[in-house]
Formats: sequence, C-alpha cells, structure tokens
Amino acid sequence: MDELGKVRKKALVINKRPVVVVYSEQGSLHALRDVCPHKGPCLSDGMLDKNCAGAMSGEYIFDRETEVLRCPWHSWEFDIRTGKSLFSPDKIRVRTYPVTVEEGDVFVEL
Ligand code: FES
Repeated sequence: MDELGKVRKKALVINKRPVVVVYSEQGSLHALRDVCPHKGPCLSDGMLDKNCAGAMSGEYIFDRETEVLRCPWHSWEFDIRTGKSLFSPDKIRVRTYPVTVEEGDVFVEL
C-alpha cells in the first residue's frame, strides 16, 4: 500500500490476468483490466490525469472529481472508478475489479 501511494499506479498479473491498480488523489484504490479495449496496449503505460473537456475549441474545463487513465497509443480516457470511457461510456469500457486493503496489503477480487 505504501508503495502504491508513491507511484499512483502499478501493473500486476494476477492469475494470468493483467490488472492495473490505481491510487487516486482522493485516497481511494481502484483496479482495472490492464488492456485498452481499442487495440490492446497496457493502460498502465498511459498517464493518470484529471479529466479535461470543453464544449468548444480552445475551451478547457478541468474536472477535479474524475481521474482518468489515458491509453498510451490513441489517448482514449477511462474513468478509474468505473472503467467507462469518457467519449462513449455506455459502449466502451474497461473491466473493473473490487479492491480492499487489509493491514496494509492490497487485495484485488477477480
Ligand atoms: S489502443 Fe488504446 S486508444 Fe487506441
């Protein structure tokens, strides 16, 4: 758990499944399948960032509530809490897994 607080995201393989565990700025833990649903690279190689959107060209609005994992290849963004993509949340998402912490150890339920 201490290690996660410093790096903010960590790639793991659990029972042959790629998983990325993310430690949010608000202090919550999230686990997502570490595969982008578009072309398959590891999301853990992408940036962890805040959502930034705008209704028109040149407008930037930072959403401090929504942290996203951005795919390193084509920059699709996934909400770390839900795994849903920002551009098509009802159709494109990454699987998420429940995470618990017991005595400083992190457990991911697959
Ligand atoms: S491979 Fe992830 S957005 Fe294209």
